[in-house]
Amino acid sequence: MAEPLILALDQGTTSTRAILFDAKGQALAEAGRPLQQFYPADGWVEHDADEIFEACVAVLREAVQKAARGIDDVAAIGITNQRETVVVWDRATGKPIHRAIVWQDRRTADACERLRGEGHEARVTEITGLLLDPYFSGAKIAWLLDRVDGARARAEAGELLAGTIDSWVIWKLTGGRVHATDATNASRTLLFDIRAQAWSAEMGEMLRVPLGLMPEVRDCAGAFGETEPALLGRAVPICGVAGDQQAALMGQGCIRPGEMKATYGTGCFMLLNTGETPAPSRSRLLTTVAARVGGRTTYALEGAIFIAGAAVQWLNEGLKVGGGPTGAEQLAASARADHGVVLVPAFTGLGAPWWDAGARGAVFGLTRDAGLPEIAQAAFDASALQTRDLLEAMRADAPDAFHNGVEMRIDGGMSRSAWFSQRLSDLTGISVCRATYQETTALGAALFAGVGAGVYRDVEEAAASRPGTERFQTKMDAHRREAAYARWLDAVARVRAE
Ligand code: G3P
Repeated sequence: MAEPLILALDQGTTSTRAILFDAKGQALAEAGRPLQQFYPADGWVEHDADEIFEACVAVLREAVQKAARGIDDVAAIGITNQRETVVVWDRATGKPIHRAIVWQDRRTADACERLRGEGHEARVTEITGLLLDPYFSGAKIAWLLDRVDGARARAEAGELLAGTIDSWVIWKLTGGRVHATDATNASRTLLFDIRAQAWSAEMGEMLRVPLGLMPEVRDCAGAFGETEPALLGRAVPICGVAGDQQAALMGQGCIRPGEMKATYGTGCFMLLNTGETPAPSRSRLLTTVAARVGGRTTYALEGAIFIAGAAVQWLNEGLKVGGGPTGAEQLAASARADHGVVLVPAFTGLGAPWWDAGARGAVFGLTRDAGLPEIAQAAFDASALQTRDLLEAMRADAPDAFHNGVEMRIDGGMSRSAWFSQRLSDLTGISVCRATYQETTALGAALFAGVGAGVYRDVEEAAASRPGTERFQTKMDAHRREAAYARWLDAVARVRAE
């Protein structure tokens, strides 16, 4: 075989993409398909699992076709995926019993609230590192078993299988031979004991999910079977699997304690590698698996901001600021210095560390000379200030990780703006390193697969093959930064409902 290639499959919330990489981490070809969203009721979000699988096969084929080299040079496939979204399917026919319930779906809010009311949350956090929130998979699986006709009886009879999107795609790609997931995806289900690295009987009982439905949990780099030969023209081994935020952590090379990345998409997911012991959170961050390779588990603290890039979208669509994200950025950059306007984009409540579903957005500090530029700047600043909230929470939960000073590696749509990247460094007071190659999620999946296939000796060698970064250093003086953060905290206190 010529120099081995790795094919990464990134099954995200709004699209499915494949990128073909060489061993130096260079992208050779890519293909993508949008994914249809279903909103059957208020707060419900679903995907068609069959559409997802068909799109996976189509983009894998197309990416290989677009490259000068063929499928014979592909050493391995790496899969990364939207996390927490669940599928339950019939083991004999391979047919899903219902559409996939997406991570954003809130239909299990009452069930989670009931368990919280019964005083279970502390124990849940101790076992899984998570909170009793509808975001996670477990209660969604229980909902499917209870609401789809006959599903619970079929589950008890061993006729059904369940899993996150990675498991569904692996099962379908391998022609139903492999029912497996990786430790990062498992750690998002509310059913996984993150210390024991095994499904938790206690959580299965609490959430009423028979664990026999669940996949076998494997390392992120390893053997996940081979694709059905007819699908891609040849049986290709699947050697890497990770949830998308953990894949991005790898794609950003955050493999040591204290290394941290933030991805600025619609929302923002920030993960701090805390090493081999899980760091419990007192600040309502999540403790989750960062990676498991060679049987060695590393952990992360994670914080999620619901509205990051979506605030820029709101400037464009809600306030009719022209010129797309670039127009919004130019407007924001033209704001008066020290205007004092604060925008809290709690459009759908506040995520970590506040977890306030009832909070709603507001603008504070308007004066007679404030206008759209100041509001636009406040919308961008909100992402930076929410990042500071997460940093403060992480500092409180894992002070050791901050001893040698940290830097934040960033990617995602908003990070394309050099102006925002600088503002982020100014308002958080830490160095920001922007990835020059933005597709860190797909790259991370490829790197895990490369380790699994022996293309790289270990994760260190894999991480070293990443393209470079661009650094932004804080220029704002500490006094102005702290004044801006104090204004932000005051504004957050005013919008809170809980
Ligand atoms: O936890 C949800 C996250 O994995 C979804 O990521 O990039 O598909 O929106 P994304």
